[in-house]
Amino acid sequence: MKNPEPLRSLYWEKDALYLLDQRLLPGKIDYIRCCTADAVVASIREMAVRGAPAIGVSAAYGMVLAAREAKENAVTAVKTAATELRSTRPTAVNLDWAVSRMERCLENAGAKSGEALTDILLKEARTIHDEDVNANRRLGAYGAALIPESAAILTHCNAGALATAGYGTALGVIRAAAEGGKRVHVYVDETRPLLQGARLTALELLQEGIPATLIVDSSAGHLISTGRVSLVIVGADRIAANGDTANKVGTYTLAVLAERHGIPFYIAAPCSTIDLAVESGNEIVIEERDPDEITTFAGQAVAPAGIDAFNPAFDITPAALIDALITERGVLRRPDRAGLERLMAKGEGQDV
Ligand code: MRU
Repeated sequence: MKNPEPLRSLYWEKDALYLLDQRLLPGKIDYIRCCTADAVVASIREMAVRGAPAIGVSAAYGMVLAAREAKENAVTAVKTAATELRSTRPTAVNLDWAVSRMERCLENAGAKSGEALTDILLKEARTIHDEDVNANRRLGAYGAALIPESAAILTHCNAGALATAGYGTALGVIRAAAEGGKRVHVYVDETRPLLQGARLTALELLQEGIPATLIVDSSAGHLISTGRVSLVIVGADRIAANGDTANKVGTYTLAVLAERHGIPFYIAAPCSTIDLAVESGNEIVIEERDPDEITTFAGQAVAPAGIDAFNPAFDITPAALIDALITERGVLRRPDRAGLERLMAKGEGQDV
């Protein structure tokens, strides 16, 4: 049955940021009350909050908290917090994008008391928050038009409401298609090693009442080659100027499979994920996480002590393998530099 109250990844109440601790899902719903920028830094670094847009919005509120807690010299405190927040995770550009936008707001505000700055920064953080939800709803509507009346859709990781300020990107498209009456069935990659697919995407789809089947990542080739999948849709952490896209490790494999078997491969992301300052995927920094995430599971060893393990959190899908980029400004087929520049230059409601 459809849950009337979908889980919120984050919200601001009174004078604190509340972050859903996604590490505990699906077993436990617990919100971390962040009253300091340091608490937000730790929550992003330890992936209590995760997903490119969600960490961007969280960082924006983190800068509000830095102004609020500063006894004196609030401007310096906010600037220090900006550096700390930026350093938490390197791949998702939405983090840098949101922090830069808050820094511009700080500059425009001029030197003010901590209290006055808190109000100004809070207004901006709330705007970033609302814009993300609206962007997801708009890109969902654009993307739904690409989904056939009946479709089996494969997705990877979690690009849903939990990864954003609300509604989701890749899952937003799936949601919009289902809301529009299309018959969709979602295959959910479990997404090793942190299981964002099994723990989070499966939960969101169940709550929404959208039919879904959980699979191990390595069965995607079997599913696609036996004709069970109509299309693949995933989110993104950073899209370079030439269209190369960083997303959760394992995404590239799916793009290769999609091309090999002639099914569409779509990326859904807001324009805050596009980074025209980075020429190609070769320049995108790929976060490498603790090998313990692979060698242990729920605190238990699943590999012999002493084995070497390599744990990149993301990979790069070359633009040539992407059939379309779905954004809140429209759908860009075969994304490349010219198309992305056109997209970023265009205003609301104009076609790409
Ligand atoms: O390491 P994570 O869980 O933050 O990785 C998340 C992803 O790779 C998502 O696909 C991406 O951030 C898009 S979320 C709308």
